[in-house]
Amino acid sequence: MSRHFRAEVLARESLTPRHVLLRLRPLENSLTPVPGQFYLLRVSQTLDPLLRRPFSIFSFEKEEISFLFIRKGRGTEILSNLRPSDQIEVFGPLGRGYPLPEQEATALVVAGGMGIASLFPLLKAIRKDTVLIYGAKTKSDILLKEQLNSLEYVKTIICTEDGTEGIKATVLEPLDDLLQRHTDKNITVYACGPDGMINAVKRMIDHYSLKGFFSLEERMACGLGACLGCVRKTQKGMKRVCREGPVFSGEEL
Ligand SMILES: Cc1cc2nc3c(=O)[nH]c(=O)nc-3n(C[C@H](O)[C@H](O)[C@H](O)COP(=O)(O)OP(=O)(O)OC[C@H]3O[C@@H](n4cnc5c(N)ncnc54)[C@H](O)[C@@H]3O)c2cc1C
Ligand code: FES
Repeated sequence: MSRHFRAEVLARESLTPRHVLLRLRPLENSLTPVPGQFYLLRVSQTLDPLLRRPFSIFSFEKEEISFLFIRKGRGTEILSNLRPSDQIEVFGPLGRGYPLPEQEATALVVAGGMGIASLFPLLKAIRKDTVLIYGAKTKSDILLKEQLNSLEYVKTIICTEDGTEGIKATVLEPLDDLLQRHTDKNITVYACGPDGMINAVKRMIDHYSLKGFFSLEERMACGLGACLGCVRKTQKGMKRVCREGPVFSGEEL
C-alpha cells in the first residue's frame, strides 16, 4: 500500500477563528497510523508553496482521517480555505509514534498549545486512568474541552498563563506538584509542545528519574529521512525528526 494518496475534503470546521479541524476521506487505501505519527499535506496543486506541511494525525477511522491545526502562515491559510469535495494530496503516515505505557505504568500527558493535536489520539488509545496537564497562553487556545470530558478515564488539569481558564500557571507547576506527591514512580510522561516546554519537562523527568516520550517539531522537506533538513542534536548523535522521530524517548533527547 502506498503512503501517497489523494483524499477528498469532507469538512473543514473552525473550532475558533484560528483553529481548524480538517476532515478528509482517503480516495485510495491508506496505511493505519499510530498516535504521534504525522502526514505531509500538499497545500496547493501548483509548485507554490513548494513544500508540503507536516501535521500530526488527530484521528483516524476507516473512512476518515483528520488533522487539527492552527492558522500560522501561507500553507495553513490555504488549508483553512479548502471546501467539501476539494481534493488534496496526502503523504503518510510517517515517523515513529508514541509507545503505549507498559501495563503497570501510569501515564501523565503534558500538552502545550497545539501539542494537544498530537496527544489527543494517544489519550484515546491509552484507555486507563491518565492525567492530562493541558496548558496554553489563554482561554481561547484551550480546545476540545467536550471531547476531553468524554474520556472519563482522563483527569484533565487545565492551566493558562493569564489565568483565564483553569489555574494560572504554566504546565510545569502542576506537573512538579504531581510528581512530588506521587510516591509510585512507575510513571511514563508524554509531552508535546513548544521547545522551551519540552526542555523543561525533560529536565523534570530526569530529576525524578522517570521515563518519558517527547514529540518534536522541525521544519521538514522530504519527510523520508533523505534531505537531512530536519536533523536535531540528541544524546545519541544527530537524528532526523521525520524518520527517527518525531517522538523521541527521554534517554535519546
Ligand atoms: C511532525 C510535526 C507535526 C505537526 N503537527 C501539527 C499539528 O498537528 N497541528 C498544527 O497546528 N501544527 C503542527 N505542526 C506544525 C505545522 O507543520 C506548521 O505550523 C505549518 O507547517 C506551518 O505552515 P504555514 O505555511 O502555515 O506557515 P509558515 O510559517 O509560512 O511556513 C513556512 C515553512 O515553515 C515550516 N514550518 C513553520 N512552522 C513550523 C513548525 N512549527 N514545525 C515544522 N515546520 C514548520 C512550514 O512547513 C513551511 O515549510 C507540526 C509540525 C511537525 C514537524
Ligand atoms: S525532512 Fe528530509 S530528512 Fe527529514
